[in-house]
Amino acid sequence: MSSDSVELPPLELLQLLGDGKNHSGQELAGLLKVSRTAIWKQLAKLEGLGLELLSQSGKGYCLVGGLELLEKDLISSLLAPSAANAIADLTLLNLVDSTNSYLMRQEQDAGISVCFAECQTAGRGRRGRQWVSPFASNIYLSLRLSISSGLGAVEGLSLAVGVAVANALDELGVDDVRLKWPNDVLWSGKKLGGILIEVVGDPSGLCHLVVGLGLNLRTEKSMADTIDQPWVALDTIISVLPSRNRVAACLLNHIVPLLSDYEKKGFVSYRAAWESLNAHTNQKVDLFMGSLQATGLVRGVNSAGALLLETDRGLEVFHGGEVSLRAAV
Ligand code: BTN
Repeated sequence: MSSDSVELPPLELLQLLGDGKNHSGQELAGLLKVSRTAIWKQLAKLEGLGLELLSQSGKGYCLVGGLELLEKDLISSLLAPSAANAIADLTLLNLVDSTNSYLMRQEQDAGISVCFAECQTAGRGRRGRQWVSPFASNIYLSLRLSISSGLGAVEGLSLAVGVAVANALDELGVDDVRLKWPNDVLWSGKKLGGILIEVVGDPSGLCHLVVGLGLNLRTEKSMADTIDQPWVALDTIISVLPSRNRVAACLLNHIVPLLSDYEKKGFVSYRAAWESLNAHTNQKVDLFMGSLQATGLVRGVNSAGALLLETDRGLEVFHGGEVSLRAAV
């Protein structure tokens, strides 16, 4: 999805089509008090948002799967006090380049700032990948917090956030979620979500972390056409998809308290939970670090969240960054 092709139709139109039912051009034009040509022009924008619009003669237009927009008041009403009290600011954006970039541009210092977007035009994944972000289909979430004692104090944070996401999904009735070192949320070996942590400021002193999470909720055609690795969305895992607003609040209820306490608690508090969710325990994997590769058996993680791999050379320790892991064949 390139930013040039993305323009938002009026929200009233999206809300009308959000019921997933058929609406004639005449009906939409009447409700929005514009011409049918104007409606047609607005509907043409939906493709740029990564949405699939069915147009059937005699029936009108139907947005496949409908839409549920995020609502700030609803999300706030579903927050536990431990999350609500730690959030300094909750922003919902319809369209943004990337929620991570948005929060990296902010200057909030106290508390945790949260940003959800309905659509990202330049969503970023790890290792320079694009994160495909169709409108109102998935969760695109970023959280910003300040760290006073340098990055050393938050070693293993991305793994711990994975544990929080897995716990949130468990609460939402999603079984068998696993974690792939360092940052992937998996279901049945396929990618359900990913975490990207970025840093602003002095990595050895006062700095700001932006923790980004993308979680696939709906299997959109625009994603199927673009994502180049095995992936899955919640709608293929559970029969009734929970409301996006509930998913959003539940994620915050698990992630925000973890972020608030992490500098104090550290990864040791989450290591056992991470190990129990590790998708590759004792499995043979290939690890890629630029042009270098290592193959070995996964023997868990150390107290800093670094991967322990038993290779021909013995037990080796690998830190995150630009490393990626794949089950060996
Ligand atoms: C990965 O490659 O697995 C990490 C994906 C992280 C995607 C999320 S979506 C919300 C936030 N904004 C971004 O641009 N990226 C992260």
